[in-house]
Amino acid sequence: MKTYLVNEEGYYGEFGGAYIPEILHRCVEDLKNTYLKVLQSADFKQEFDALLRDYVGRPSPLYLANRLSARYGCRIYLKREDLNHTGAHKINNTIGQILLARRMGKTRIIAETGAGQHGVATATVCALMDMKCIVYMGKTDVERQHVNVQKMKMLGAEVRPVTSGNMTLKDATNEAIRDWCCNPADTFYIIGSTVGPHPYPDMVARLQSVISEEIKKQLLEKEGRENPDYLIACVGGGSNAAGTIYHFVDNPEVQIVLAEAGGKGIDSGESAATIQLGRMGIIHGAKTLVMQSEDGQIEEPYSISAGLDYPGIGPFHANLSATKRALILAVDDQEALDAAFELTRLEGIIPALESAHALGALPKLSFKPTDVVVLTVSGRGDKDMDTYIDSMK
Ligand SMILES: Cc1ncc(COP(=O)(O)O)c(C=O)c1O
Repeated sequence: MKTYLVNEEGYYGEFGGAYIPEILHRCVEDLKNTYLKVLQSADFKQEFDALLRDYVGRPSPLYLANRLSARYGCRIYLKREDLNHTGAHKINNTIGQILLARRMGKTRIIAETGAGQHGVATATVCALMDMKCIVYMGKTDVERQHVNVQKMKMLGAEVRPVTSGNMTLKDATNEAIRDWCCNPADTFYIIGSTVGPHPYPDMVARLQSVISEEIKKQLLEKEGRENPDYLIACVGGGSNAAGTIYHFVDNPEVQIVLAEAGGKGIDSGESAATIQLGRMGIIHGAKTLVMQSEDGQIEEPYSISAGLDYPGIGPFHANLSATKRALILAVDDQEALDAAFELTRLEGIIPALESAHALGALPKLSFKPTDVVVLTVSGRGDKDMDTYIDSMK
């Protein structure tokens, strides 16, 4: 059967692989040879499942949003990752990776962060497991996500502001990789999305796949069927989307819709719509679509949302686009803001700005009344209150 999941060489179609400096070869090989054994072992599964249940609060609810459904003329279920401990889906992945890091005998954790959600999720599990934690964060993001910076510090992490490039997620990732190159023996790099060299995209997708595992069970209970007609998620690097679609991706009856950040408009020069604007290139160890100039220089992405302004995209998602398995929509800043206010007023749920991009896809689609739509609310809006308040002025 055709699968859209990773092949044995670490590729999704022509995307993926591990393009890394020599110094990291050993680390990445060790990880590649270990991750599946650990993730599939009974003892890991037991510890992971127990923490997801008792610490994170899973399963996250699948909520039938009645007023939103009436607005769009279909049945819309929200997968409430915003209700997880630390406020987003990111914690599913950090719990899994820190359990793996411990089993590999690593003592020092590094991470990159954009919106700060992955940084907070990493600092949280490091506090829980008593591990040293260093988080790289672009200076622009340090300023626009200051509450999350305070949280990371309170949790005991060291936050290192990065001042290269446009001082956002790409630059933070560069610095984290540099650190990893200098400390390959004791350091485990917890990547926050389905990006980076193989096996990271597959490992992160597997750890987040609990989202679609739960959706299947919950839909069966509520609708008497496992498969929705539509799955909708936002994409930065792609981890909440990967988790949402993982157990449905090989079923062509489920329409997958991925919302990327259109910024000020896809043709404005200020956008992060990587899938639509990107060309094949290599970024942070993976062969994938990259926003780049004609001579191959990575272009600075822009989005109102700190978690979506990444100039690359997970290789899994690049392949879903290339094979037309997924419909890719660009949702611009204003559309995302409007969608955030709409959800807040209709359902009493303030979403993260990233998740608001998934909601911003709804007006671009036309539904039948019988359609069952599952949309992942990847995080809550607390961290974005300054931006929301500014937009009301
Ligand atoms: C709440 C939330 N949703 C989505 C994203 C985008 O990441 P990904 O595409 O890996 O889900 C982020 C990234 O920081 C986030 O904080």
